[in-house]
Amino acid sequence: MTWDKLFAKRTSQMKRSTVREILKLTSQPDVISFAGGLPAPELFPVERIQQAAELALTERGREALQYSTSEGMPELRGWIADRLSTETLKVKPENILIVSGSQQAQDIVGKILFDEGDAVIVENPTYVGMLTAWRPYLLDFAAVPTDHDGMQIDALAALLEKRSFKAAYSIPNFQNPQGVTLSYERRVKLAELLARYDLPLYEDDPYGALRYSGETLPSVQQVEAVVRKTSALDDCTTMYAGTFSKTLTPGLRVGWIAAAFPVIDKLVQAKQAADLHTSTLNQFIVYEAVRDGSFLDDHIARLREVYRQRRDLMLRTMEECFPAEVTWTRPEGGLFLLVTMPERMDATEILKLALEQKVAFVPADSFHIGEMGRNTFRLNFSNARPEMIEAGIRRLGALLKDAVRVAI
Ligand SMILES: Cc1ncc(COP(=O)(O)O)c(C=O)c1O
Repeated sequence: MTWDKLFAKRTSQMKRSTVREILKLTSQPDVISFAGGLPAPELFPVERIQQAAELALTERGREALQYSTSEGMPELRGWIADRLSTETLKVKPENILIVSGSQQAQDIVGKILFDEGDAVIVENPTYVGMLTAWRPYLLDFAAVPTDHDGMQIDALAALLEKRSFKAAYSIPNFQNPQGVTLSYERRVKLAELLARYDLPLYEDDPYGALRYSGETLPSVQQVEAVVRKTSALDDCTTMYAGTFSKTLTPGLRVGWIAAAFPVIDKLVQAKQAADLHTSTLNQFIVYEAVRDGSFLDDHIARLREVYRQRRDLMLRTMEECFPAEVTWTRPEGGLFLLVTMPERMDATEILKLALEQKVAFVPADSFHIGEMGRNTFRLNFSNARPEMIEAGIRRLGALLKDAVRVAI
């Protein structure tokens, strides 16, 4: 049987995530991996999760083990709505849908928004998981270049003047894979464009809480509400996706999307087809763990402290050992930075050499739209312990010095 002939046309756009494939190679204990976007496991709040699970099962066990509503646990939706509300934007629980990891929000947003051939604006490079979720809809991706301040809004404005787009996707905080952050001025300009064109924006924000330097910025959704002179999310076109994966633990697979009610209503229908609802027990556990906000805030403060040190150590060691021909971003938060080698070099070839030295990273070509980024790779600084970061970066530096000498 040749299954390839039987699969739907949209599957021609599906492929396994290169990041997940590389993660398989790096599972041996002696490999120093800068590849995945993994939090530091030694910082997982195991005891708190254990207590939360016990509480959920002891006090509300029969409810926690039952099917539940597709929208999500009401108390958790309320808690998230309160956390997202500001002086100027009042988020209601009806504006929140709990999802099975924010990756699911991308999948179901794709399902409800896109028809074949729709034009969608993305940053270049952008998150490969979104490309995996949205490519099967056979979209026409329009790539907007980025720099140190995130998406170049003038280039976006020029695109919007020329033709119409179905939606835009952005990771304003500590972007994956570059680690760059959209400046406040650009957030305002972006929000003005959203209002002028009534353009839906998918604002993906898994890393916003993990800031190590610089000032905290309002979300584009919050800025949009101000620009539109409204305090209601129902008047906004930004769909804001958040997650407990990086602040609590990714294994529970609990995230959310905050959007206008008609969007949430349609997403509920798509989610019912996907999985009926997010794990009831996991939602109860998350709620018990975070309901008194101070635990989560203290925990995030600890993560920020440790990750800041790891980022600084990685940057310091790169400064010391990487060849002058190689450049890299200097993120103010998040988990990643992006390295750019001279044009002629190929990150996949360098990865082969690095794996021989037991060091891994992710070549970033798959994060790019078009034939770009072969000379770039992404480094994660949250997962490896400090001594491993130093040893791994030194090995990479030596290897890059040799490779640069041969290439230029
Ligand atoms: C930009 C971005 N969006 C979404 C996700 C998915 O996160 P989760 O499904 O764990 O919430 C990730 C995961 O690394 C990510 O980097």
